[in-house]
Order: sequence, then structure tokens, then C-alpha cells
Amino acid sequence: MIEVKDLHKSFGDVEILKGISTSFEKGKTNLIIGQSGSGKTVFLKCLLGLFNYESGTISYEGKIFSNLDEDEKRNLRAEIGMVFQGSALFDSMTIAENVMFPLRMFTKQSKSEMEDRVNFVLKRVNLDDAHKKMPSEASGGMQKRVAIARAIVNNPKYLFCDEPNSGLDPRTSIVIDNLIQEITREYNITTVINSHDMNSVMEIGEKIVFLKDGYKEWEGSKKTIFKTDNKAVTNFVYSSNLFKKVRKMYLKENNN
Ligand SMILES: Nc1ncnc2c1ncn2[C@@H]1O[C@H](COP(=O)(O)OP(=O)(O)OP(=O)(O)O)[C@@H](O)[C@H]1O
Ligand SMILES: [Mg+2]
Repeated sequence: MIEVKDLHKSFGDVEILKGISTSFEKGKTNLIIGQSGSGKTVFLKCLLGLFNYESGTISYEGKIFSNLDEDEKRNLRAEIGMVFQGSALFDSMTIAENVMFPLRMFTKQSKSEMEDRVNFVLKRVNLDDAHKKMPSEASGGMQKRVAIARAIVNNPKYLFCDEPNSGLDPRTSIVIDNLIQEITREYNITTVINSHDMNSVMEIGEKIVFLKDGYKEWEGSKKTIFKTDNKAVTNFVYSSNLFKKVRKMYLKENNN
């Protein structure tokens, strides 16, 4: 479980995160949604310890991150897997080498142990025969799966994904979303995903935190998002006509 209390983050005089409090549970796909520029990536980078912040606390299993010493921070980082916006694979390494990278960095496993683990996770994301390919030879969807394999190779307790399906077609996006949800449940990971995709909300939005201009405007789940009267949320959700129709159908089915 990750808990965030009253987080404030500025760049110079500009306050970007204006006092965010929320929590993310284990074994769940937690979504941070909101329009472009609302602060999702900045928030995720604060959670990861990549950005300093002026005030507020972030705790992992009850331990406040800023109170940890350097060794403890390093240990925590080894328990975090990350899928960056746009996959961010190393171009000069094969797919297998990309996936092995965190094991080289954070563990003292032998070459054959690492190879076994790489084989296992590549199989888990349905990429059995891509080991020797270079990232440039892989499609966008394959690259995302490589990034997910790399993020989970060291058995993370926490998985952070920044727009994991940006640039993918809707069907491949759903495959990626479902893969992340399956892995989250299978390994009981605390997963936090940045998204501005309503498909992801409907597929895997077990907990949803809606950011607007650096505030937490609303939180709930895919079950409650269609019932809220919060104007900012409804504007976001129904910026797509499709979801206006889905809402009508949903409310009819549930006799509301
Ligand atoms: N390193 C930085 N220095 C100064 N300002 C920044 C920096 N990073 C982000 N910002 C600002 O913080 C605000 C929030 O940006 P952020 O990247 O978190 O948005 P986002 O919700 O992730 O948007 P998107 O959906 O487009 O990825 C923006 O106004 C952005 O210009
Ligand atoms: Mg972003």
C-alpha cells in the first residue's frame, strides 16, 4: 500500500501539485487520470522519488520515503518496476538484454539465473521468440510488452506505468491494459497507471484518482465514475460521444 498525504510540488514559483492525498492498494490497478498538463507525470515521478517536493509525505507500507536512509531508498527502488511514457527501451541492446538490465543493476544473480528469469518474463508477455530482436525491429505493442517484461523482471512490489498504451491502436491498448491487470493480480503488486484513456478506465479502473490543475478533483472506481455529478469528471468522461451513450446504457441497465 502506498499512502500520499497533502503533497505539494512546485517548479520555481509555479505550484503543480496543490495538496494531494490518496492511497493505492496492493493487488489493484490504480489509475491516475486527468487532462494533459493536470500533473499526472509529475505526481508519478514524486511517487518514484525522482522529484523532490516541498511538503507532504509518501509512505510505502507505512514507511515515509523521505525518512529512509540511502540504503533503504536503494532497496525500495529495487522493488519498483517502471514503464515510462513511450517505452524507453535501450536502442543498442537486444530485447533480451533490455529485459535483463534491472537484474544486472539490482541483483547478483548468475548469467544463467538471469537468462532463466528473462525467458520466463518474456514468455509471460507472449514474446517467446523475440529475444534477439532489436527494439527498432519490434512493433509499438511489442515494445510495450518488452517494457512491461523489463518492469516485472525483478519481481517488483510496485509497478508504475506512465501512459502504457499511448500510441497504440484500441485493440492493442486493451491487450496491454489487461496484461498489466493480470500481472498485478498474479503477483499481488501495487500498480499505479497514468492514463487519459477512457477505455483503460472502463477496463481496469479499480481505483481512479482524477487530477485537475494539480488538485485531486475526485476519486472512485469504474463502477462509480458514471454516477458522479462532478462537472470536471463528467466533462472528461463525456468528451467522447461514445461514453455518453455508454452512460445511458449503464444507467438503464442499473435502473438509475
Ligand atoms: N521539469 C519541469 N519543469 C517545469 N515544469 C514542469 C516540469 N515537468 C512538468 N512541468 C509542468 O507541470 C505541469 C504538469 O505536467 P505533467 O507532465 O505532470 O502533465 P500530465 O498530466 O502528465 O500531462 P500529459 O497527459 O500530457 O502527459 C505542466 O504544466 C508542465 O508544464
Ligand atoms: Mg504525462
